[in-house]
Amino acid sequence: MKNIVILISGRGSNMQAIVEAARAEKWPARIAAIISNRADASGLEYAAAAGIPTAVVVSKDYPERSDFDAALRAKIDSYTPDLVVLAGFMRILTAPFVEHYDGRLLNIHPSLLPSFPGLATHQQALSFGVKVHGASVHFVTADLDHGPIVAQAAVPVLQDDTEHVLAERVLAQEHIIYPRAVRWFVEGRLSIENGRVHLADQAQ
Ligand code: GAR
Repeated sequence: MKNIVILISGRGSNMQAIVEAARAEKWPARIAAIISNRADASGLEYAAAAGIPTAVVVSKDYPERSDFDAALRAKIDSYTPDLVVLAGFMRILTAPFVEHYDGRLLNIHPSLLPSFPGLATHQQALSFGVKVHGASVHFVTADLDHGPIVAQAAVPVLQDDTEHVLAERVLAQEHIIYPRAVRWFVEGRLSIENGRVHLADQAQ
């Protein structure tokens, strides 16, 4: 049984997709806690209603990024996680934090990396006029939005798309690929070889 801790900052729809998949598909995993850096993250209400322990480490309370990361790490580690999942967690994490969770920290980013790291990815996609956009699940490294890619999903960018419409199309794919990638991890099928992710076949 693997322990998963999920970090959110807001609505937590990816967290919800992971919780629901874990339950419906009976993963060999326990969602040990949902942790937010904002007390008003609406995803906390879903987590509490689902009977999952929640915690808040308020980033605004820590002027120094390293102090916040240390407090967050202490809170996360109190749940002895095998995997930490960033699900719309909108904070840049320091290198020591990321290195502490080396090989067990996943993120979802709303673009086809390495295109459009950072913020406002849908706006960037529309501004560049790309015809294909999407989402990526990747292992987190100290290099922002550049870790080994685990899964991607592509969507078309249509002529009349607004940022909102495009975001919704991408989000629907996020809800498919993120639970799938987390499941691969808890099944012990993901490894990193020469900086690239290797997915082992499913055990028979
Ligand atoms: C998702 O689209 C996720 O990919 C994105 O924030 C949204 C969170 O939605 N993450 C990032 O931009 C990380 N840089 P959710 O709270 O409903 O899962």
